[in-house]
Amino acid sequence: MLDKTSGLVIPEHVGIIMDGNGRWAKKRGLPRSIGHKFGAQNFRKVTRYISKTGVKVLTLYAFSTENWKRPMEEVSALMALFKQYLVDLLTDFRDDEIKVVIIGDKSGFDKKLRDLIEESEYVSKDRQGMLLNVAMNYGSRDEILKSVQAIARDVRDNKLDPDNISFADIESHLYTAGLPDPDLIIRTGGELRLSNFLLYQSAYSEFYSTDTLWPDFDDKAFDQAIIEYNRRNRRFGGV
Ligand code: IPE
Ligand code: IPE
Ligand code: MG
Repeated sequence: MLDKTSGLVIPEHVGIIMDGNGRWAKKRGLPRSIGHKFGAQNFRKVTRYISKTGVKVLTLYAFSTENWKRPMEEVSALMALFKQYLVDLLTDFRDDEIKVVIIGDKSGFDKKLRDLIEESEYVSKDRQGMLLNVAMNYGSRDEILKSVQAIARDVRDNKLDPDNISFADIESHLYTAGLPDPDLIIRTGGELRLSNFLLYQSAYSEFYSTDTLWPDFDDKAFDQAIIEYNRRNRRFGGV
């Protein structure tokens, strides 16, 4: 188990693109929705483990603004899983003091899911442990667009001078306002792309891709990512 005693630097903020549920199911001759079910179970396990390593913020990509393009039965299965898991999370993460926040466009969800999101955020709001951001109906371009719209409104209302718009203004309207940028972004399932995840925030994130499919990603696979992260030389444009 990784922690401060392992001598490794533990990143403050980790993002994970949880990809590969569909392929995991296909390999076993099962429907994609079963892959999502196992993926959701793994989400609980991995989150609990990471919360014990000293990571302060974990952002998990669960559903993108583009994922609505999938067949209706797959989208419905995912929405049903989100509901079930949000109910479980109300008690599940209590002992680990994990605080849950959903980032993304919540207006895309039905009332029941929106209520559950509100409830899980409320119930966990005073917890002192790791912050878990679950990115659902999240798209970074959509997030940036919403920030631009908010800034334009402030300019129109004479609250902001266009010549004084700062990075802080842009960042204050992102879902991650007030949080450190991700130090490490892990993608399971082997693809080498961000798929619209934290585009602005990942300017200097270390990217780590593993062929392991999300339902198989475990403690050891996470430790490997941290070991690799510790080999990186982060220069941020300097020397
Ligand atoms: C990731 O697994 C979960 C979601 C995008 C909701 P996928 O469903 O994308 O799995 P693959 O990439 O098709 O294997
Ligand atoms: C990215 O996976 C989104 C999530 C893991 C939630 P996708 O499977 O949607 O990404 P692409 O389509 O391969 O880029
Ligand atoms: Mg995928």
